[in-house]
Amino acid sequence: MPEKKQLSLEPYKGTRDFYPRGQFAQDYIFGVWKKIAEGYGYLRYDASILEETDLYRAKSGEEIINEQTYSFIDRGGRDVTIRPEMTPTVARMVAQKRKELTFPIRWYSIPNLFRYERPQRGRLREHWQLNVDMFGVESLEADLEMVNIAGDIMKVFGAKDEQYEIRVNSRRFLNFLLNDFFQLTPEQAHKVSKLFDRMHKISGGEFQSQLLEITGDKDRSETLISISRARSLEELPEAVKAHESAAELMAFINKLKNQGLSNVRFEISVVRGFDYYTGMVFEVFDANPVNPRAIFGGGRYDDLVGIFGVERVPGIGFGMGDVVIKDFLETYQLLPEYKPSVDLYIAPFDALYIDAANELAKYLRVQGLNVAMDLTDRQVSKKVKAADKEQIPFVVVIGEQEVTSGKFKVKNFKDSKEFEVSKEEIVGLIRK
Ligand code: HAM
Repeated sequence: MPEKKQLSLEPYKGTRDFYPRGQFAQDYIFGVWKKIAEGYGYLRYDASILEETDLYRAKSGEEIINEQTYSFIDRGGRDVTIRPEMTPTVARMVAQKRKELTFPIRWYSIPNLFRYERPQRGRLREHWQLNVDMFGVESLEADLEMVNIAGDIMKVFGAKDEQYEIRVNSRRFLNFLLNDFFQLTPEQAHKVSKLFDRMHKISGGEFQSQLLEITGDKDRSETLISISRARSLEELPEAVKAHESAAELMAFINKLKNQGLSNVRFEISVVRGFDYYTGMVFEVFDANPVNPRAIFGGGRYDDLVGIFGVERVPGIGFGMGDVVIKDFLETYQLLPEYKPSVDLYIAPFDALYIDAANELAKYLRVQGLNVAMDLTDRQVSKKVKAADKEQIPFVVVIGEQEVTSGKFKVKNFKDSKEFEVSKEEIVGLIRK
């Protein structure tokens, strides 16, 4: 007989199990996302995790399709991919129902996404991502709304302006810079974009030597290096600043600052990996280098809906992952303390009182309390200890005295105080 392989206790590489404490943190993050997205009038949608692989071949970019997708051939011979991102799906949904939908569309979703990445801090193989997208508005006002939503989310999480940075760039500006200003060939321009994208992951020396190799020209590569160091558009050469795409970007950043976002700045390395972006692009980063990966990423994609052979519908949006924001919240101690959803634990003194305990539990649940009951035959002191260990805030023991008097001693673990109340008074006591 072949030797049986020991089953692993670990979740699949790069994925997480959510035990209740982890789920509590996850729910808190989702709750803030939902509150802000809905506060701006966005409606929730979702779709299947499975899509035809062709959907991502169109515009998601080489890295995603060649290296990061979980793809397989189904039993019917279709090439299927587990969604690595939501944007192609939402564009497909908009394209499909464009005749019935009312524009502008404001939608959000919290999908789980799968990318075959090397698991590391801030990057896993499964993550959940808030997606906030607007369709049908081409004006800068939509771009401003997106960055404001991102800023509001950070504020509601309790982040201070100096703890993170919103870095902005524009595909139109990049196109002008590389194609027109530097007169690079399409292939060189593509390579320089990819190099900017990787800029903060490689050494300065490596960045410079690769730039020289791509452009083959010392002057151009030196000007590109100085642009790569610019923290504001003001620092760029006059001839670059004068272009209307640079002026637009500058006006955009100034407007955001006037709207109270003090931590917004220009950054050439914000290129974004996906091929579908056409205009403004942005990313949010932790100011603390312990979390070097972007917390949010997004931008304008005016030609994505059109790939389905329908009329052009401009789109803009962003994605924000649960992994990086959780790291951020832990770094700055902004995660709320764990609290189980159970309000009260009922501990019957022994098996004789289970019926009475059940009756009380039933009554309290109808009143809206979350009540768990101990069903074991262990000593009552152990039942009470278990409730405390689980951080359930209140406990009540049901025995002979309680059944005959109709009065219950409810203990608050926080201050160890006990209150003797009727069953009608329990809800008020716990809610207080
Ligand atoms: P993205 O930059 O690939 O954009 O992802 C957005 C955010 O999702 C990242 O900033 C990060 O927080 C998180 N994220 C991405 N990959 C991983 C991973 N492997 N592990 C953990 N977190 C991750 C997009 O996906 C675009 N489709 C966003 C978008 C929506 N653009 C327009 N609308």
